[in-house]
Amino acid sequence: MHPHEYDDLSHDFSDNFAAGPGARRSRPGRRNRGSRFDDEPEPTRRGRLTESERLRLAERREEHQDTAGAPAGGDRWSTWDGAEHGPEPHPPWLITELAAVDTELGVLKTGKEADVHLIRRELPGTGRRVVLAAKRYRAAEHRMFHRDAGYLEGRRVRRSREMRALNARTAFGRNLLAEQWSSAEFGALTRLWRVGAPVPYPVQRVGTEVMLEFLGESDGTAAPRLAALRPDPNTLADLWHQTTAALLTLAGEGLAHGDLSAYNVLVHRGRLVLIDLPQVVDVVANPQGVEFLHRDVRNIAGWFAARGLPADLGDPDALLARLVSEALPAG
Ligand SMILES: Nc1ncnc2c1ncn2[C@@H]1O[C@H](COP(=O)(O)OP(=O)(O)OP(=O)(O)O)[C@@H](O)[C@H]1O
Ligand SMILES: [Mg+2]
Repeated sequence: MHPHEYDDLSHDFSDNFAAGPGARRSRPGRRNRGSRFDDEPEPTRRGRLTESERLRLAERREEHQDTAGAPAGGDRWSTWDGAEHGPEPHPPWLITELAAVDTELGVLKTGKEADVHLIRRELPGTGRRVVLAAKRYRAAEHRMFHRDAGYLEGRRVRRSREMRALNARTAFGRNLLAEQWSSAEFGALTRLWRVGAPVPYPVQRVGTEVMLEFLGESDGTAAPRLAALRPDPNTLADLWHQTTAALLTLAGEGLAHGDLSAYNVLVHRGRLVLIDLPQVVDVVANPQGVEFLHRDVRNIAGWFAARGLPADLGDPDALLARLVSEALPAG
């Protein structure tokens, strides 16, 4: 597929969602809402939701409830049946039985574009249970993705009816956009998981909800983000090597993360995992592909440098050159 075939679509997007990568909201502003991590400001109401937040979450939950009645011992029947499923072979911890039930354990993190919830899926009477992360993209009236422009260049929206709905920003269009992002993230994770990239296993997708392998402990404690860590020099070097290996795997697929920072990297028991991948960028098809790659490398190498990684080890230019030659076809 030739990249220029997409030019008309990308113009539509940038005209209607006027926010290029340069116009993104700043990260600190986006991080301030409702998170519970030690690298972030304390919430003003500890452990309590405001009334509007409570209502909003209740609405969100209803949207994702596929049956009217709740099964005994859970909030809903497992939504595995009828969902788009993660790649095979399925990991051994996955619960695919129809009799399984899901229980909402709470909100892990609320963001501008999506909320991440903790879900327990269990097979009653068997003791088999697993904690999952459910990332629910929002289709709210005023919600605006920083990723709605720019990133979409080189992608394709198939039907003109959908294209018109997106441009008109009808309710249908807004929901479609949220669904498009969940679909994009699920697709990217599936592809990357298959080639062995360090990403959470994508369990399933239903509409605007992506269910992921939960990186953390079985009591629901999430793995810390890289940004929260102050690693000793050896650990820091090891994490840098894991980062470069991960980015090389992506580049081998012709991809850049597209929103890489120490906030979109988790460290689970010493293992580095990339998350938050809906905007993954095709370095070849996207006219700004190499710029995205460059920005990813600058961001993450900047974090490592600030933590004291020696410059010769964490040289961003050297890494960028390797990634570009890996991602772009020779010649
Ligand atoms: N699979 C997972 N396991 C454990 N924690 C997770 C997982 N996925 C996401 N999280 C937590 O939820 C947070 C938000 O996830 P993610 O970055 O994918 O969503 P987002 O809405 O794009 O957030 P942001 O706007 O803050 O970037 C992460 O920083 C991480 O702390
Ligand atoms: Mg994120």
